Amino acid sequence: MQVEERGNIENCRIIYFPKVTDFRGNLSFIEENKHVPFEIKRVYYLYDVPSGATRGGHANKQLQELVIALSGSFDVIMDDGYQKRKFFLNRPHYGVYIPCKVWRELENFSSNSVALALASQAYDESDYIRDYDVFTSMIKDDTWK
Ligand code: TYD
Repeated sequence: MQVEERGNIENCRIIYFPKVTDFRGNLSFIEENKHVPFEIKRVYYLYDVPSGATRGGHANKQLQELVIALSGSFDVIMDDGYQKRKFFLNRPHYGVYIPCKVWRELENFSSNSVALALASQAYDESDYIRDYDVFTSMIKDDTWK
């Protein structure tokens, strides 16, 4: 996928996965480049999140992610520097796609929630923008490189 000039809130969206319903319990599955618009290079998960905590709080130059509430619920707030959108996740058969160059915060975690993230790249701290003022100035000045 081509790296965009800047993040665009319009590209942040809910993606539904196949759901195989069964009296023994339901099953969903995710295939790279099919149910998510990138190759999955890394998986990580957030758990034991204390009440009132906020995760995220960064944007990424190139990383794309898809975040799923495997258990429990939480909000994902995304911000492209111009607009914000909030997505409430509370079921494991869908997730929210976070394109690159979008500031994200995860908050309002229910007890025992698990946030699963599928990521398009291995962990690389140099891809992260962790200062919101730097993020907004990078958008304004178009200095993403
Ligand atoms: P951080 O990116 O701040 O977590 P989040 O955005 O989900 O709130 O990561 C917290 C710490 O974990 C930080 O020191 C980097 C490290 N980390 C890794 O080593 N590998 C990873 O894949 C991730 C996501 C984080």
